[in-house]
Amino acid sequence: MQIPPPYEKFLAEVLITEQDLQKRIAELGAQISRDYQGKELLLICILRGGIMFLTDLMRQLSVPHAVDFMAVSSYGAGARESSGQVRINMDLSMDIKGRHVLLVEDIVDSGNTIASVLALLESRQPASLQVCTLLDKAEARKAKVPIHYTGFQIPAKFVFGYGLDLDEYYRNLPFIGVVDLTKYSPPE
Ligand code: PRP
Repeated sequence: MQIPPPYEKFLAEVLITEQDLQKRIAELGAQISRDYQGKELLLICILRGGIMFLTDLMRQLSVPHAVDFMAVSSYGAGARESSGQVRINMDLSMDIKGRHVLLVEDIVDSGNTIASVLALLESRQPASLQVCTLLDKAEARKAKVPIHYTGFQIPAKFVFGYGLDLDEYYRNLPFIGVVDLTKYSPPE
């Protein structure tokens, strides 16, 4: 396995800076705190891309909340687009019946992941079920999904950083960058 190259080699542009991300997350945190005042809030993060957003968002919430995780994957690993069928790799550890659930995602792209997860979670009878995504790539949408909180609308570009990976690396970067695919080759 090759060591991945420094991101500067293939970064086309910084789409959203660290400062802009943190400013918007603070706004979202304030809004969600107002909306869920007095309610039993459960944040559900879909692994793995949502982890950075989840932990920064949690620090901006002034209402009590629990967190749980689930892992899903599209059929066809390594694909650049999700396929429409989603498999649950790790389920929640908590019962969501009667709870106010907020799904926390890094990006809604085709919408297939969120559509499948929403259908599954609805069947477990939460008191409410809403979606908070940091990034919304609306141009790429294939499944119609309700999004209640959005950080940023983004164009249909290949983005990475701040939880989003490029062949599993670069999730740690504090900004959202655009990949120049002519300068990036996947590790062998
Ligand atoms: C990404 C992202 C979303 C999904 C969005 O996950 O975290 O869950 O794709 O795409 P969609 O709207 O087209 O379904 P990915 O499958 O890359 O896994 P990861 O979070 O582990 O990186």
